[in-house]
Amino acid sequence: MKVLVTGGAGYIGSHTVLCLLEAGHEVVVVDNLANSDAESLRRVEELTGRSVDFLQVDLLDARALDDVFAGGGFDAVIHFAGLKAVGESVTKPLSYYRNNVVGTLNLVESMEKAEVRRLVFSSSATVYGASENVPLTEETPLDATNPYGRTKEQIEDILSDVGHADARWSIALLRYFNPVGAHESGRIGEDPQGVPNNLLPFVAQVAVGRREKVTIFGSDYPTADGTGVRDYIHVIDLAGGHLSALRFLANKTGTFRWNLGTGRGSSVLEVIHAFSAAAGRLVPFEIGPRRPGDSAVSYADPSAALADLGWSAQRDLASMCADHWGWQSANPGGYSADARAKD
Ligand code: NAD
Ligand code: UD1
Repeated sequence: MKVLVTGGAGYIGSHTVLCLLEAGHEVVVVDNLANSDAESLRRVEELTGRSVDFLQVDLLDARALDDVFAGGGFDAVIHFAGLKAVGESVTKPLSYYRNNVVGTLNLVESMEKAEVRRLVFSSSATVYGASENVPLTEETPLDATNPYGRTKEQIEDILSDVGHADARWSIALLRYFNPVGAHESGRIGEDPQGVPNNLLPFVAQVAVGRREKVTIFGSDYPTADGTGVRDYIHVIDLAGGHLSALRFLANKTGTFRWNLGTGRGSSVLEVIHAFSAAAGRLVPFEIGPRRPGDSAVSYADPSAALADLGWSAQRDLASMCADHWGWQSANPGGYSADARAKD
């Protein structure tokens, strides 16, 4: 297939582009590099020995997007492009709604014009809000609790309506749990700008000596060790889920939603211990207060993805930490050490 990947220079996008190329697909990436570095795609080319057509285009530029589709001959689109920092979405809601929701509207309108009606969208378990009715199934009511999460919920609604209005559309809404890890080569990985919001990148930066210690956000949750439990999933397993969704959509129309998680929860303390073992050094930590908005426990029921797509996550927490460490230790300052030195 010829696949257009929006946000393909980013963390999950770059790993998915690599897997698409390895599977023999042709890939074109559009990304405005708002939260990424084109070096990721250069390294994907180096790893696969294949070329990636990269276009630095903002989804908010509808005309430029139409030009991408004109003569593009795409069979499908995988749509990763979006802003994803929960805290920032609370202080800058309009830029999140504009970027994520308007960006998606522009994309779908360009797809309509070009008659490309096969789309895989990056949704998130964040659409379930603070629900602790675990395991979370695709039928769990949606209740996003912040502007970022609400952009995902709104985009899911918009895409469902598009699929409902025109039966020629094939749409997959993939609800990711907590993506972590990196390609086993250590050449590509997550490169957050500024102070990481998420646990694994923070732990990795402590392990590599870039930060002093991890603060555990609460140790009084009703969990086995009192710390929060999440469903961490290796980014390569997650990338594989997109290939499975593409295969599924190749001969089906309609709108489909799947949880992509492992179905297993790990606590913050378990993650810190697993990472320490993978890195061969102790990761210092302290206990702090709970982070507002956090739930105690979140993990997926991934059985629908297994039944429909034949997909399930294969890699365990030890392998997630080993690969995350492989990337972090080989690239302590990320893709562009100089640019990041100032955080
Ligand atoms: P990322 O920030 O690394 O990648 C997103 C990419 O989109 C970046 O390269 C960014 O430059 C690009 N982008 C943003 N706005 C754009 C625009 N208007 N036009 C063109 N490009 C634009 O994030 P990621 O972790 O790879 O996440 C990919 C997708 O998955 C996002 O939609 C995110 O919300 C979703 N998601 C991520 C997680 C996670 O924990 N990483 C969890 C659930 C869902
Ligand atoms: C967060 C977002 C969610 C988003 C997801 C993946 C919030 C409230 N939720 O979820 O919308 O979809 O990331 O991008 O921000 N933790 C620490 N110390 C840290 C960092 C995290 O103890 O420095 C704990 C958290 O309390 C949580 C676990 O580690 O129990 C995982 O945190 P994180 O990686 O931020 O993911 P989520 O909380 O699942």
